[in-house]
Amino acid sequence: MTTVISDEKIPNNVDLAGDRRLQRALEAWQPKFIDWWKEMGPEGWQARDIYLRTAVSVETDGWAHFDYVKMPEYRWGIFLEPKQEGRVHGFGDNAGQPVWYEVPGEFRNMLRRLVVTQGDTEPASVEQQRKLGATAPSLYDLRNLFQVNVEEGRHLWAMVYLLHTYFGRDGRDEADELLQRRSGDADKPRILGAFNEPTSHWLSFFMFTMFTDRDGKYQLASLAESGFDPLARTCRFMLTEEAHHMFVGESGVQRIVKRAAELMKTGDVRAQGGVDLPTIQKYLNLWYTLSLDLFGGEVSSNAADAFAAGLKGRYKEDRYSEHALIGSTFAMDVLRDGKVVHEDVPMRTALNEVLRTEYIKDCQRGLDRWNKTLEGEGCDVRMVLPSHKFHRQIGMWSTHRFTPDGQMIDQATWDARSREWLPDQADEDFVKSLMKAVYEPGKMASWIAPPIKGINGLPETFEYVRP
Ligand SMILES: [Fe+2]
Ligand SMILES: [Fe+2]
Repeated sequence: MTTVISDEKIPNNVDLAGDRRLQRALEAWQPKFIDWWKEMGPEGWQARDIYLRTAVSVETDGWAHFDYVKMPEYRWGIFLEPKQEGRVHGFGDNAGQPVWYEVPGEFRNMLRRLVVTQGDTEPASVEQQRKLGATAPSLYDLRNLFQVNVEEGRHLWAMVYLLHTYFGRDGRDEADELLQRRSGDADKPRILGAFNEPTSHWLSFFMFTMFTDRDGKYQLASLAESGFDPLARTCRFMLTEEAHHMFVGESGVQRIVKRAAELMKTGDVRAQGGVDLPTIQKYLNLWYTLSLDLFGGEVSSNAADAFAAGLKGRYKEDRYSEHALIGSTFAMDVLRDGKVVHEDVPMRTALNEVLRTEYIKDCQRGLDRWNKTLEGEGCDVRMVLPSHKFHRQIGMWSTHRFTPDGQMIDQATWDARSREWLPDQADEDFVKSLMKAVYEPGKMASWIAPPIKGINGLPETFEYVRP
């Protein structure tokens, strides 16, 4: 692998050709990335031609260029949304002041932690999904998996660009460590919990891209408001790609739900090779709650500090008229002396919960579409989002047990009933037993309905992955 860094190999709009320092940093980092990709990227598919989308510029005709490519030769680019002259801080203590183009010294550590935490999720998800190619339900889905994987790789590049360009030596060290941690590893795990959970089959993959990538959307959107301008512009461009990941998840689950509803008309769903709705609901409960944890504690001084500093805003900050949030409050459930009470919490410390609340609404919109599918199939069952208190491992609700509809229960009741709500080993074994690869163009596995249309308008029988 040659290590010559050029605009041709790394499409970019950051003047890589004119930046010797960045070139040198990337020349050192890029071979380590390729080694990581070959070791931890999609297993068994590196030499195949895959029909993939590559961003070659930020213009509308450039960010979605489709062609066959072998994944290790994918052109991972570095793109930021174009600079807006005269941009000012949109929120926090510096609202109205010009944004920063260099890292502000007093917030350096906080900013680096935000970049590293976001960056760590990108390679983590590639690691979690690396074996799924062996059991793909169709070539269409196989291709979508790899599309998500290479774009998470590009998101890692985006964060590494920030570390290399703005954080000097410790930025370079952090960039190296992003390639050294491993999802699920006991000694060197990824930073966040959900990114250490195994994504051991396609039902979990679709739930992950539905719920966990959607957390990514909300984190990126709040960083896209940042007063550190390079971070804001990087995250804005990443969001254009993230939309496809959530499409893969939402439409994937929808197709499994549709198949279940179809099979219910002719008998037992499992016996006919489908995933039954109660099992789908259990995996929904699992991945949704793991993803809720990613927003952090309900009452958080870190969230308040990042907002005050102007580093991390709210989702679509310009929908709000007030951007300082001093003296305002957020009404939310909290635990007081072991009881749930509804209380006004100072807004800045409630910002994790504010963002989580937006996320929950967005998830519900996805479930509404799944339920429309069920309705269309004449099925009475509905998919339901569990309470945000259920099955939490981070934050105030993690200290108690709750049912999916939010009732507090004791540990004994939880132990007796949790298998009704979350997948157990038997569910996991059953779902895995369905996972048999289908590699014939246009064919689908028994447990999933075909997509409504092909990628980039291509026909059903298109060969998305060449043999
Ligand atoms: Fe990403
Ligand atoms: Fe993603």
